[in-house]
Amino acid sequence: MRAFLIVGNKAVTKPFNLNDLAGSAGRMDIICRCIAQSLFVSHGIRRDVEVYVLLLGSPDPPKALKIVGSEVRYMAPDERNVGGIIRKALSLDVDKDWRISSPGVYVARKNLEELLEELSRVYEIVYLREDGVDIRDVACDLKNPLFVLGDHIGLKEEDERLVLKYAKMVVSVSKLSLQADQCIVIVHYELDRC
Ligand SMILES: C[S@@+](CC[C@H](N)C(=O)[O-])C[C@H]1O[C@@H](n2cnc3c(N)ncnc32)[C@H](O)[C@@H]1O
Repeated sequence: MRAFLIVGNKAVTKPFNLNDLAGSAGRMDIICRCIAQSLFVSHGIRRDVEVYVLLLGSPDPPKALKIVGSEVRYMAPDERNVGGIIRKALSLDVDKDWRISSPGVYVARKNLEELLEELSRVYEIVYLREDGVDIRDVACDLKNPLFVLGDHIGLKEEDERLVLKYAKMVVSVSKLSLQADQCIVIVHYELDRC
């Protein structure tokens, strides 16, 4: 298995306008691209991938999404389609337990620490950051990795401290600072070569 956790610092926590993903939805366009790049190949879905998203924007944070590749149905890779699926999940009432919203898509009230605590029982947590070790040196040794990424803002200091507490390592995919969805494509590319 492979997994990704994307932290959406401004991504809103209520149903949003699909025509304004990059504006009033709090850069939900980044989240949609990350989900699509995590899950989709040409004409198919990676069934061995899970995607987690932490939504920290107004008006009701934190909320977490879980998207399970092996269960997903009726999802297309375009931002509007993924956005619609997130929007539906955000219309549900949430508590600490995962609640299904559509096939393979779950929502819950979880903060970063709760998510990391849960996920570190299943996955080896890897923090993606520009100054980490080169992914080429470690990719093929990773067992069940979950890669943590920030959005356009990155991770806030206190969130980064938490991630580093759980992370087995910090890994870099390029000498350049890339967009989060670009990092996901590179991670898949490197792991697919193993
Ligand atoms: C657009 S970047 C964030 C830029 C933000 N201004 C910052 O300084 O953190 C989004 C996320 O992609 C990941 N990232 C970007 N470039 C990377 C690289 N070269 N190697 C590993 N991760 C990277 C990091 O997790 C980062 O939080």
